[in-house]
Amino acid sequence: MTLILTTKILPAAEATRPAAECLAAGGLVAFPTETVYGLGADGTNGSAIARLYEAKGRPSFNPLIAHVPTLEAAQRIARFNDTAFKLARAFWPGPLTLVLPKTADCPVSDLATAGLETVAVRIPAHPVAQAILQALGRPIVAPSANRSGHVSPTTAAHVRDDLDGRIDLIVDGGPVQVGVESTIVGCTGTPILLRPGGTPRAAIEAVLGTPLARQPAPVQNGPLAPGMLASHYAPSANVRLNATELRNGEALLAFGPPLPGAPAGRTLNLSPRGDLIEAAANLFSHLRALDETGARTIAVMPIPTAGLGEAINDRLRRAAAERPAP
Ligand code: TXA
Ligand code: MG
Repeated sequence: MTLILTTKILPAAEATRPAAECLAAGGLVAFPTETVYGLGADGTNGSAIARLYEAKGRPSFNPLIAHVPTLEAAQRIARFNDTAFKLARAFWPGPLTLVLPKTADCPVSDLATAGLETVAVRIPAHPVAQAILQALGRPIVAPSANRSGHVSPTTAAHVRDDLDGRIDLIVDGGPVQVGVESTIVGCTGTPILLRPGGTPRAAIEAVLGTPLARQPAPVQNGPLAPGMLASHYAPSANVRLNATELRNGEALLAFGPPLPGAPAGRTLNLSPRGDLIEAAANLFSHLRALDETGARTIAVMPIPTAGLGEAINDRLRRAAAERPAP
């Protein structure tokens, strides 16, 4: 049984204290961050992390992000160079993850970092995530709280659909704000964009004063292509991108004015007014809802690539990619 505590009814501390206690005891707790819901485990507890991989059905070579409440806590696990400090000061707390060398006495379990010499760190902005981190006083490793290969959850109900009975607790803090995962920047050499996400590339480049190196092409497997499994954000339906007309039986994921013939009951609009921030917030829940209509194919209208559009298009390409054999 998975217990659900909701911060809409309870005072925040009544939900966050049991969450921290559960994590300290080796439990698995899903909680809201500003990007997507995370599935947390105590980052220093190897057996809790092993349970986490099992609950998600995640390949264990895919390393996890360590969440911490403050820059001071981040510096206990990772070594910051000038670039990293600049980005941390500009964007934390917020939807940015930095991949940095581990400190010599980094307490994060090797299981969470998949044996790498580096660790991915982020300070989330969500008040519930912050409260749990403060209460626990240890890093929380947290992938998105979905079964591996499924769409990332943006509500507590999504988490329950995927993980009910497999985890101990869900803290329901309402729908998330950003809707796509954090942007990941590698800071061990020339800064490189490893995953587009909730912090637009242009904002990062403006702070650095230089362009970010490009991410390597997606591959099916491989520990060094960081989490870049080609098919990752996958609904059961096929996904057809950049649709400019509708084919028989397709559901439609629209952006702006919908295509002619948009099927009633099988059309959802990411943003009728063409706003990329609104579209990011709706992306995963709309994909899930269209998948649940039972349509064999979801046609997706073209989405601009500026700002958050880069992350949205990245997630859609993954949803549309060939699926690895089950
Ligand atoms: O917004 C987010 O980042 C959410 C919330 C819960 O914080 N978390 C999230 O975690 O998206 P996850 O596990 O779904 O994605 C983590 C990504 C993976 O692509 C992983 O390969 C990469 O971070 N990663 C983790 N550690 C890494 C490392 N040391 N080097 C390179 N990539 C790393
Ligand atoms: Mg994920």
